[in-house]
Amino acid sequence: MGKVIPKQEGLDHSVDFLREGYLFVANRRKSFQSNIFETRLLGERVICLGGEDAAALFYDADKFTRQDAAPKRLLKTLFGEDGVQTLNGTAHTHRKRMFMSLMTKENIDRLLRLTDREWKRIRHAGEEIVLYDEAQQVLMKAVCEWAGVPLARDEVAKRTDEMRLLFESGTSLGPTYLQGRKARSSAEAWIRQMVKEVRSNRLLPNKQTALYEFSWHRDESGELLPEEVVAVEVLNILRPTVAISVYVLFTVLALHQFPRERAQVKQGQLSKTAFVQEVRRFYPFFPVAAARVKTDFEWDGYTFTEGTLTLLDLYGTNHDSAIWAEPDQFNPARFMDWKESPFNFIPQGGGDVDFGHRCAGEHVTIAILEQVIELFTEEFSYTVPPQDLSYSFVDMPSLPKSKLRLTDVK
Ligand code: HEM
Repeated sequence: MGKVIPKQEGLDHSVDFLREGYLFVANRRKSFQSNIFETRLLGERVICLGGEDAAALFYDADKFTRQDAAPKRLLKTLFGEDGVQTLNGTAHTHRKRMFMSLMTKENIDRLLRLTDREWKRIRHAGEEIVLYDEAQQVLMKAVCEWAGVPLARDEVAKRTDEMRLLFESGTSLGPTYLQGRKARSSAEAWIRQMVKEVRSNRLLPNKQTALYEFSWHRDESGELLPEEVVAVEVLNILRPTVAISVYVLFTVLALHQFPRERAQVKQGQLSKTAFVQEVRRFYPFFPVAAARVKTDFEWDGYTFTEGTLTLLDLYGTNHDSAIWAEPDQFNPARFMDWKESPFNFIPQGGGDVDFGHRCAGEHVTIAILEQVIELFTEEFSYTVPPQDLSYSFVDMPSLPKSKLRLTDVK
């Protein structure tokens, strides 16, 4: 007889999930004193996992599959249908290679030159800025150029707003969710049209851009991808790059809230990378990753049954006291002398980036945020006027309430 998985009694706990947000899994791991427990969400039995060993299990592709794991409402907004997130096995590895072929040092440096140029343009934007809005336009203009996607000046606001809705609306109810679905149809149609033009040689993006490489990519059976799948995958580059705006806010917030660490970065005692890593560990962004049990197996004496929806606690694992000393302290120095494993630090997922579902854009994210630190400590001067800088542990994504207003930006 195996061990019994600790179980939260009751018919359904979806409301608790919405109420507790990022802390839902961590709270129960604490009260059960267990890195595994069972609950019910959206009418379904769900296993929740947290911690380094559990992350290693979750990213074992022989044990878990992404088939039917993401809720439909996220496919209709955040991810899109039939994208890399939903694939498994060779189909996944092949498609993932398409993404990773863009992530060379040279190509990431090209993106950084574009973001640097756009950041320097906002200095002339005026006296007061809302950093969330500015950062999104900076990132959108830069990533479209990087991806070979033409973006007319009079389209910037509309298309940027669509990207924002894609990542803000997935967990919303009511009108915001519907706006998110509309944004997805509109954005997919926009990119689909470009794919047609590329394939008929009316639009000629450079090699090493997402639009070029994805339009001409051949799947594992040698076929071009359907236009709508190319659109979903190009949006899998544009949308998350614009979503880095969330981390831009938390980075600039941290520079404001932790002046001692800011000074240490400026004086070179603390690396920018360490500061960025601590921002990604400390602040909430992605709460959990989802997969389904592929075939029955036993782990640590517990039985996992085929098909069971399983969530991995990303936020909680980054605040796990078994991995991090004083996890609720903001302390970038912890990353100066740090032993990384594929499973002990997972803000953007864990495991192997080429062969698993770990985020394809982790290096891009880190590089863009290091640049933000450079710009906001060395190049720009600005004032953070009084405003509501609190952020929620329930809203997803979480953001400082004021969206970070800055004045006297020079
Ligand atoms: C804003 C910061 C970002 C965060 C917090 C983030 C987070 C994540 C997470 C949690 C996953 C899923 C891991 C899993 O399912 O196990 C993921 C996957 C992915 N991310 Fe990111 N990401 C970010 C930025 C980016 C960027 C900038 C790009 C592209 C330029 C990107 C592209 C992708 C892709 C393509 C996947 C799917 C990978 C797969 O299924 O194999 N992300 N990301």
